[in-house]
Formats: sequence, C-alpha cells, structure tokens
Amino acid sequence: MTSQSSSPGRPILIDTDPGLDDAIALLLTFGSPELDLRGITTVAGNVPVDLTTRNALQICELAGRTDIPVHAGCARPLLRQLETAESVHGDNGLADVPLPDPTLKPRPGHAVDFLIDTVLATPGITVCLLGPMTNLAVALIKEPRIAANIGSVVAMAGSFFAGGNSAPALEFNMQVDPHAAHVVMTAGLDVTLAPLDLTHSVLTTDAQLARVAKLPGRIGRAALAWLSFYGAHDRKKYGTPGGPLHDPCVIAWLLRPDLFSGKRVAVDIDLKSDLVPGMTVMDWWGTTGKSPNAMVLNRADVDGFYDLLFERIGALAAAIQ
Ligand code: RIB
Ligand code: CA
Repeated sequence: MTSQSSSPGRPILIDTDPGLDDAIALLLTFGSPELDLRGITTVAGNVPVDLTTRNALQICELAGRTDIPVHAGCARPLLRQLETAESVHGDNGLADVPLPDPTLKPRPGHAVDFLIDTVLATPGITVCLLGPMTNLAVALIKEPRIAANIGSVVAMAGSFFAGGNSAPALEFNMQVDPHAAHVVMTAGLDVTLAPLDLTHSVLTTDAQLARVAKLPGRIGRAALAWLSFYGAHDRKKYGTPGGPLHDPCVIAWLLRPDLFSGKRVAVDIDLKSDLVPGMTVMDWWGTTGKSPNAMVLNRADVDGFYDLLFERIGALAAAIQ
C-alpha cells in the first residue's frame, strides 16, 4: 500500500512540535490514504522551533514523503517565555536517535502565512494541532477570514480531571501558550479536544512495544527507539505500565471516530491564575449555562486504537523498508 492514494482524501494541515508522539502521529498520517496532508507547520514547544522544523523534515524524509511542504513557524508563545520538554523528548526532540541529516529544506514563507493561504484556498480543511496553538492564533489574528474557511480544528490539548502533566492541572501545549489557546477557543471554530483525560488511557505498554518491534525497516526501527525512550520517562513519572501516546489520538480520531467518545461542553482557558495559568476549565455538567464550544473526547477503545496504529504504520513500514 502506498501512502499516497489515487482518490483525494480529506484535506488536512498538521501544526506540530515534534516531539516523539508527534512523530508517531505523522507516521500514522503518512500510512493513511484517507488523509490528504496539504502541509506541516512547525512551532516551538517540545524543543525550539529550529529543532521541531528539522525533526519534521527528517520524519518526512524517513517516510519518503518529500512532497509534503514543511514551513517553520513561531519561535515563542504569544506572551509567555518559551518552556520546552527535552527531559521528555530528548535534547533534539526525537530521543537523540541518530537519523540521516535531512536533505529537505523548509519551504520559503512563514508557517502562519502558509496556514492562511492554504485555508483560504481550501474551504472546509481540517487543522490538526499537536503542539502549542501559537501559529493558528497568529493566523487568526492576522487574517480573521480564515475562521469561516476552517472546517474543523482537532487538537491534543487540555487536562480536566487528569491532573495535568507539565504542572498540576496544566497540560503542556496549553501551558506553553495559554493566550494562543484562548484566541483559538474563542474564534467560533468547530473544535475537538483530545485532552490528557483521553490520552492518559492510551498507554504504550510492553505488549504494544513488542508489536512495534515487529515493524520492519527504518520506520520500524525509528518507531521502536522513539516509543521506548518516550515511555520510559512517563512510566516512571506516572507509575503506569506504559507511556501515554498523546498526539496520534488526534489522527486516529479523524480516521476512526467510532473508537472514541466524549461530550460537547463549554471550555474556558484560565489566563488570570498565578497558580495554574492556562488551566482548561471545562463545564462538564453544564453548571454555567455557557454554550458548548468544544467536543471533549474522554474515552477510547485502546485496543482498537493500537490495532489501527499498527495496521497503518505497519503498511507504511513495509512499503518503505
Ligand atoms: O501534553 C502532551 C502534548 O505536549 C503532546 O502534544 C506533546 O508532544 C507535547 O507537545
Ligand atoms: Ca506535540
């Protein structure tokens, strides 16, 4: 199976801060011909934007997807100072796994302008956010017309009952740029969130790693190295039998929404708190009377998710060797 199908798939853009789980999400995308990836925009998050950009190029090259435009984006959040997560993803953002230097270069033009141009040219496109929301927020500020053209936004972001990860009650993507998240969440967009409440149930256990070890070729080797490193940190931190696989949940939801469930609720971003700036406040029981502005996913068929992941990445790995 090739990763580029003949029939046009669902047009999507991926904004990302690779990042180990971002890398797996990109491989899942490349292995899924239902998705027509129009471009990748990179943002500062897990590591600085020069590294997230380099990593995105390397992942595209590893998967033989040199056709995908990659545009470098914002180097820092809207207002806060950049916080990165090398302890989780490795100094280079990809577990310091040796990969060939990318021959691909980022396309000319800032990610924000590529987002604007692509959305204006592709009414109904889906924007997938796998990192801090800085690029999309700046695009909405620079060109508000894009809001009417965006079909939907699907974001790995937020923590409600899950207790946070990078800080109590704070999920990393929201914590890095809460002001950008506020711009996106108040723009009247069709937003679906995959928060920690969902992703902390999607754990790459030893049994799952054993399946990764069977994936062939350079894709299999990279995926095993990335998931082995990523899981070690989170297993120790959470005392769980595996590390949560956050960002691939966004792509899996696009492919198989039947594997997930959740509820449309009102979600606010707390910008005022000194204690938890960027906390996602979710009105799960409708006590505020506020209109829902997001679909919050909180349940997954975990076995079904991993079957999909291994089916798609396995097909990509077999095609690439
Ligand atoms: O909190 C997890 C999220 O932050 C994931 O997207 C991870 O890649 C980091 O960006
Ligand atoms: Ca990410």
